[in-house]
Amino acid sequence: MAERETWESRLGFILAAVGSAVGLGNIWGFPFQAGQNGGAAFLVVYLAVVFLIGFPAILMEFVVGRRSRRNPIDAFRELGHGAWAVAGIVGTFTAFWILSFYSVIGGWVLRYLGGSVTGAYFGDATGYFNAVATGPEAVALHAVFMLLVIGIVAFGVEDGIERSAKVMVPSIVVLLLGLGVWASTLANAGAGYEYYLSPDVDVIVNNIASILPSAVGQAFFTLSLGMGAMIAYSSYLGRDDSLPRDGGIIVIFNTLVGLLAGFVVFPILFNLGIEPGSGGSGTAFKTLGGAFGQIPSGELVGVVFFFVLLLAALSSAISLLEVVTSFAVENTSYSRPTVAVGVGALVFLLGVPSALYSDYLMWFNLLAYDLFLPAAVLLLALFIGWVYPSGAVDELTQGSGVSATFNTVWLWFVRIVIPAGILLTLVLGVQELLVVGGVLESAVFLG
Ligand code: PHE
Repeated sequence: MAERETWESRLGFILAAVGSAVGLGNIWGFPFQAGQNGGAAFLVVYLAVVFLIGFPAILMEFVVGRRSRRNPIDAFRELGHGAWAVAGIVGTFTAFWILSFYSVIGGWVLRYLGGSVTGAYFGDATGYFNAVATGPEAVALHAVFMLLVIGIVAFGVEDGIERSAKVMVPSIVVLLLGLGVWASTLANAGAGYEYYLSPDVDVIVNNIASILPSAVGQAFFTLSLGMGAMIAYSSYLGRDDSLPRDGGIIVIFNTLVGLLAGFVVFPILFNLGIEPGSGGSGTAFKTLGGAFGQIPSGELVGVVFFFVLLLAALSSAISLLEVVTSFAVENTSYSRPTVAVGVGALVFLLGVPSALYSDYLMWFNLLAYDLFLPAAVLLLALFIGWVYPSGAVDELTQGSGVSATFNTVWLWFVRIVIPAGILLTLVLGVQELLVVGGVLESAVFLG
């Protein structure tokens, strides 16, 4: 086996991890989840979940990754608990699974980027979406998106992932800020902010049973948890980094980008009198696409918006491919480029049904979001909290200088709060399933 790569710098790791976290889930999913779940009410619950469950959970993945310096499956054997590799297997499988339809959506983004330049979707946004979202062309663009992802991962951790993140992540932030400033100039922007930022306590209390599962799912998804991505990325990390500090930066940064996306999306919707979160799968493309067709300088805004979305989707997709690639590179004699192409081709094939039939995409997404992802995080929490606590705390302490109190509090969050949150979510999710259709609405991050 060739010598294992590492990040060139701590900043490189942070940018790559932020790149993984910031994706379709933030810019697409977050504002629309908020729109479907009462706006600011969702925001409040989501923020609580991100810091109480998401932050301790990302540290669990960092601990496993850095301590083992292995891919997310072999990591557990390296730590002396081979049976728990099941947690890594579920995660790696989920990464493979999610990438298959994530890439189909990436293909849509490519399509809309082109469509913004030519104005193709401006006249009839819904008709356009229905025409391009599924079919041979969607398959072709899914292939193009996967080729881009494979191209980056094939170059390796430092030359591919780290280098691309250093360009993509700052670009995302700058362009999104620009869009936010532009959106603030729209008439009625204030109503959008109001909907987004002033929570109604009654709405929270009355809807907590549906808000909570959505918030937990969204928090895991957006922080790239439960798919081995953060295990894989932290496995290339040096011992002298502070995991709590890096984790905190990544969580805060990711949250800010999600918030910022809301500052772009809600003024646009309120400017045009569009009900936030209305409609089914793909609404995001339809409503915003329609909005760009009506709004002054919509062409330019459309190009910038979909370009930001493309960068965000790419920098996330590479982390998903890296999960599977790192496993295959460390367990076969094939070179990284060969593995990246091979795994990428399999992911492409798995995604073809989603590119042909929207029902497949919805079910792929639903299973991942509601089942695989919480299951993987739950397994990891049980492992860290009850099977491997002292090793985990030891690793968390390396290079961090945090107090013993921090470690203890973290451990109890891992032992109790994370599993309780996930179990509650699963129960509420099933209950919601009984409300026909309700679960589909809230679980599909496409809106
Ligand atoms: N966090 C990404 C997003 O918000 C999605 C993702 C999940 C990426 C898991 C990698 C791993 O879109």
